Amino acid sequence: MPDRYHPVLVVLHWALAFCLVGLLIAGSQILAPLANSDPAKLISFRLHMGLGLLTLFLMVLRLAVRLTTRRPAPVDTGNSLINRLAPVTHWALYVLAFAMALSGMAFSRAAGLPDAVFGDGAMPAGFDHPARVVHTIASRLLMALIALHVAAALWHQFIRRDGLMARMALRRR
Ligand code: HEM
Ligand code: HEM
Repeated sequence: MPDRYHPVLVVLHWALAFCLVGLLIAGSQILAPLANSDPAKLISFRLHMGLGLLTLFLMVLRLAVRLTTRRPAPVDTGNSLINRLAPVTHWALYVLAFAMALSGMAFSRAAGLPDAVFGDGAMPAGFDHPARVVHTIASRLLMALIALHVAAALWHQFIRRDGLMARMALRRR
């Protein structure tokens, strides 16, 4: 068994961490608070949508690489509950990231946003749609799960000192 993740998965992990954290912060702090009549909303949305679609593409790539490459053996933390929880949180991160991109596309399409972005259509008055609710709830769950994931990585690195971080780093396998 390899002692670290495949280099392509490592690059995708860090690229996606950057994209997802950026989208979560900018989406909740900049995009959502802007009024739909504000011209800055359209520019902000173009960036959000562009990065959101790139994220979806990279997530599909990552899933394919994850399912077809060998990965290091699970770490034994000495606590069976934590051992069982780790893979569950990893898959939940995948599910929530996909839910974000797909729900974003669904409610934007339903509101006619692509016309405003690619044509000269006007911004919709609002985004009332069930997928909009999914987008907000999933974003909060993803924020909480990423916080837990980062806390777990720091716990491994600095408290357990088991060198887990090196498994997600670029070095010869
Ligand atoms: C920003 C700080 C982050 C740190 C320090 C970090 C650290 C790590 C480390 C050390 C591992 C390896 C775990 C192991 O060997 O079992 C890992 C795996 C993983 N990380 Fe992160 N991570 C971060 C952000 C993220 C984000 C934002 C996501 C969002 C989706 C994410 C999703 C995953 C997943 C799914 C795995 C399991 C490997 C896989 O199936 O692809 N990480 N992370
Ligand atoms: C994985 C990728 C994505 C992440 C992490 C993300 C994250 C977020 C967050 C955190 C918000 C603020 C939610 C709130 O506070 O209520 C938001 C709003 C929004 N997102 Fe995304 N998003 C992603 C992908 C997309 C995509 C692909 C689209 C459309 C094609 C999209 C369209 C929107 C729109 C239009 C809003 C603003 C809605 C409003 O002002 O009411 N998002 N996003």
